[in-house]
Amino acid sequence: MKQQLEAIRAAAIAAMEGASNAEDLEALRVQYLGKKGELTAVLKQMGKLSAEERPVIGQLANEVRAKLEAAIESRASELASKAMAMRLMSETVDVTIPGAAQKLGKQHPMYQVLDEIKNIFIGLGFEVIEDREVELAEYNFTKLNVEEGHPAREWSDTFYFTEDSGILLRTQTSPMQIHAMESRPLPIRMIAPGRVYRKDEVDATHSPMFHQIEGMAIDKGITMADLKGTLNTVVRSLYGEDTVTRFRPHHFPFTEPSCEMDIQCYKCHGAGCPTCKGEGWIEVLGAGMIHPKVLEGCGIDSSVYSGWAFGFGLERLALGQYKISDLRLIFENDVRFLEQF
Ligand code: DAH
Repeated sequence: MKQQLEAIRAAAIAAMEGASNAEDLEALRVQYLGKKGELTAVLKQMGKLSAEERPVIGQLANEVRAKLEAAIESRASELASKAMAMRLMSETVDVTIPGAAQKLGKQHPMYQVLDEIKNIFIGLGFEVIEDREVELAEYNFTKLNVEEGHPAREWSDTFYFTEDSGILLRTQTSPMQIHAMESRPLPIRMIAPGRVYRKDEVDATHSPMFHQIEGMAIDKGITMADLKGTLNTVVRSLYGEDTVTRFRPHHFPFTEPSCEMDIQCYKCHGAGCPTCKGEGWIEVLGAGMIHPKVLEGCGIDSSVYSGWAFGFGLERLALGQYKISDLRLIFENDVRFLEQF
């Protein structure tokens, strides 16, 4: 029995030291130390031994068991560190390999101009309101003093959803004046940029969808001088401190008096050039003092409060600023074009 134990010890330790992975090692543990293992089988025969032999063989058997367990443990930790080393080797990251280049997007040139304008107005204490593009004819026209039968309301000019629904795609951002008056306490200072829609054929200067910016201020004692002062401040931040403006009388149903503002051509300073089509001036926006009828329609006492409003097309401003000759380029979104700005 002693030889048997010695033989098991020699064979098992040799096998364990040669085990090349954790599974093989576990199989050897079962083979020698498991319930039906070789060492266990020998121990089961202890009963046949004499009283003198039993403690001697018992001690040897315990020694062999301890040796085998130690051999398993030390081989297991060797295998684990080998496996870790292999993993570290296979998972190394070569930080010197150049990365895959990411294509960087860029803000659309028109929205660059819009952000610049928003920032100027925010600096002047104005709120920026961005809101619905689907409107009621009542807000797009009636409450702005554009009565039933006015040519601007024609089916041929405006995208109505159905003939008599009174629901349409807004043709201007001016209805935001009404929404602001109805939803906000006075005083109000706001701009409302956004998309507007008209039944226009696409060409170099027209698109059925374009952007406008509406502006409005209502308070006690607001006059035309406030309108001119604000707009002069804005165009000077946009085009430079020496920008010259002029205000011409005009007509809009929702303002009284109404005007249009021109800026002296930033290219030729009034001499006349292709940018201003020889005029020396560039028309920029429509504006005026909010019609008392419009104020009263929104529940504002026009004998106490007054206000100004303006509205202009963003595309035209961006085209001028970046010297882009065709409106269609703004909407095609060809990256090669947009990348230039
Ligand atoms: N909504 C006008 C348009 O689309 C522009 C405009 C003119 C807006 C005068 C105003 C204004 O607020 O006071 O042509």
